[in-house]
Amino acid sequence: MGNPDLLNWKISNFLTNKNLDFNRQEILKVLPDKFIDDAYNTISSWPSYKPTPLITLDKLSKNINIKNIFYKDESKRFGLKSFKALGGAYAVEYISKGKKNITISTATAGNHGRSVAWGSQRLNLKCKIFISEFVSEYRANEMKKLGADVIRVKGNYEASLKECLEQSKKNSWHIVQDVAWENYELVPKLTMAGYSVMVKEITSQTDQYITHVFLQAGVGGMAAGTIAGIAKYFKKIPKIIIVEPETADCVLRSVENGALKKIEIKKESIMGGMSCGEVSLIPWKIIKNSVNMCLSISDDNIAKTVAMLANFNFSDEKIIGGECSAPGIISLIASCNNKDIKEELELDKNSNVLLMGCEGNADENLYNQLLSQGMEQI
Ligand SMILES: Cc1ncc(COP(=O)(O)O)c(C=O)c1O
Repeated sequence: MGNPDLLNWKISNFLTNKNLDFNRQEILKVLPDKFIDDAYNTISSWPSYKPTPLITLDKLSKNINIKNIFYKDESKRFGLKSFKALGGAYAVEYISKGKKNITISTATAGNHGRSVAWGSQRLNLKCKIFISEFVSEYRANEMKKLGADVIRVKGNYEASLKECLEQSKKNSWHIVQDVAWENYELVPKLTMAGYSVMVKEITSQTDQYITHVFLQAGVGGMAAGTIAGIAKYFKKIPKIIIVEPETADCVLRSVENGALKKIEIKKESIMGGMSCGEVSLIPWKIIKNSVNMCLSISDDNIAKTVAMLANFNFSDEKIIGGECSAPGIISLIASCNNKDIKEELELDKNSNVLLMGCEGNADENLYNQLLSQGMEQI
């Protein structure tokens, strides 16, 4: 490799999925075609709709000897700066059809709430958003700017969700939550259908067959929505690799266990949106048999990667990629450094790798902090 530092990037943990059995029909039973089609038809009819760019990371692909590395740049999604703009806003439109004067509610770590607030504002609906004490003031303000009432709750995300459920029941608000629980499945399915739009776009952005996809996971919604999109739109099924923070590897542990497994988060990762202790029910049904491998990484190279994206180290374009965009790049580089993983995944000069640039500077303060920290290290 040209850049000697990249040679030291490592995977924390990895696991091959013994239950791999990719089955298009089964996946599309969990997230039916009709949702995927409706999501695309609805979202692509919004006046500000434009596919996000698919950038090739040519400098990186030369460096690590991979044919093509495609980077889906979700920093450009509707000015909301993350793929989450596709999920919540679409779900708001779907469930509010024909209903007037309703109030939408949700609990969020940030990006999902922003999407729900934007979707509610588009349709002139009232919106109540519950956030924990850990959500930054910057993110709270972004949601207020979109007309939402933002309610801060003492405690963590779970506490904000509990409060949201209680208040919503009392006031007959319509909850638009991206996480599934028993008897609450429609909205999480809608959000995943929204995320599948990324895959639909990719099919007309390259004529190369994708051989590998690295998918970041928190509760697994983004990963499962993308996998459903692959099942529907891709002619050839690529190898699918899940990436998580080492401190929040609930997908890896569940795949290892062959069943859902809750984990305790002892230290919050800088990859905030991915710091989740439990896989959501619906995504799990899709993920469990369709991913080839699960990987986890530490926070060590996040700031550096954010800086390298902005500093033209990976491509000729300046890329604004935040803390949840970096893991795809880090795990690809680290996989190429690990002989066992590289061989098992057959990552080589014939590979066309897809990475998800999930978010841009959705939290500008955190982004700027990571960027300046990273710039000092590269
Ligand atoms: C900004 C952001 N939030 C959250 C997530 C996690 O999404 P999910 O909880 O649907 O797995 C990701 C990506 O994995 C992300 O990039």
